[in-house]
Amino acid sequence: MNNVLREPILAASRSNRVKELITNTPITGAVVKRFVAGETDQSVIDTVSKLTGQGLLASVDHLGEDVTDIDSAKVNRDAYLSVLSQFKEHSFGNGVEVSVKLSAIGRALAGNGEDIALGFAREICVAADAAGTTVTLDMEDHTSADATLRILKELRKEFPWVGAVLQSYLLRTQNDCQDLAYEGSRVRLCKGAYKEPASVAFQDKNEVDRSYARCMSILMGGGGYPMLATHDPRLIEIAGALAIRNKREAGSFEYQMLLGIRPDEQIRLAGEGAKVRVYVPYGTDWYGYLMRRMAERPANLVFFLRALLTRS
Ligand code: FDA
Repeated sequence: MNNVLREPILAASRSNRVKELITNTPITGAVVKRFVAGETDQSVIDTVSKLTGQGLLASVDHLGEDVTDIDSAKVNRDAYLSVLSQFKEHSFGNGVEVSVKLSAIGRALAGNGEDIALGFAREICVAADAAGTTVTLDMEDHTSADATLRILKELRKEFPWVGAVLQSYLLRTQNDCQDLAYEGSRVRLCKGAYKEPASVAFQDKNEVDRSYARCMSILMGGGGYPMLATHDPRLIEIAGALAIRNKREAGSFEYQMLLGIRPDEQIRLAGEGAKVRVYVPYGTDWYGYLMRRMAERPANLVFFLRALLTRS
């Protein structure tokens, strides 16, 4: 979070002019491919088939968030139903699940947005169940956390396997970890990707990391199924130590990383017998996702700019 480029890049992610420039640049396609599976169901099937062939698991995210009308929410719901029916056909089982942003299926719509998102999420859960797999609810900015956890609670009454996401940068997250560390509870722990005020979130990167270690300790010591989403070598090392201390078998928790980030480490961990799930975004609405990855790590930005400059 002490990355000086983070704020300008996040600002660019909200600029329509920058968006137009980047999405209309021909090379972008090739660069985006490192972080995004593609725009179609087939591109997802190809990507997850490759990953599962390497001994990895996947969680597929249909890109799109903050919809402002019900029709767009339906389009996003239908995209999940379509890709889940393909997963069923390919018999991926729970090796390939889906991740859903509730704002993509209507949560922020005025009036009854929360009910709409719950209804659509339920339909997605039914389709996931039929495909023999699970759904994890992504966590968005802090203003949506309570609504997301309320929807999680409702869904878990019917589908106890629905996964939650908690973000270690939020001051509240240690308590949320305690609440959710019960038997059968799937919880993905990440650092958090949004710009949050000091009133609700740690601002210092080291604080966020220390909070991650504390939260991980609660989850690994509890009865649930921790999903440790980080590329951070120090935290991955601590996870290994916590697994030993809590006598956790390799299959009782998993590591998670993003498509295109530390792929060698993903394969190394899987080779050691760990469960490793790769987050695979796809769809036409990849711009905001890509910009968040750039904001996180200047090296990703350098990779992107170099590709733009060497295009001709
Ligand atoms: P951080 O960015 O601090 O990096 C720590 C270290 O990891 C670096 O110092 C470096 O050593 C290594 N590293 C990172 N990127 C690298 C790269 N490109 N190449 C080589 N090394 C690299 N966020 C959110 O708010 N809501 C959500 O629902 C989710 N969901 C989610 C799912 C999954 C599976 C993942 C992995 C992440 C998320 N996130 C998320 C994003 C998350 O909050 C966070 O923004 C990113 O994972 C980056 O944080 P790191 O933990 O990797 O640490």
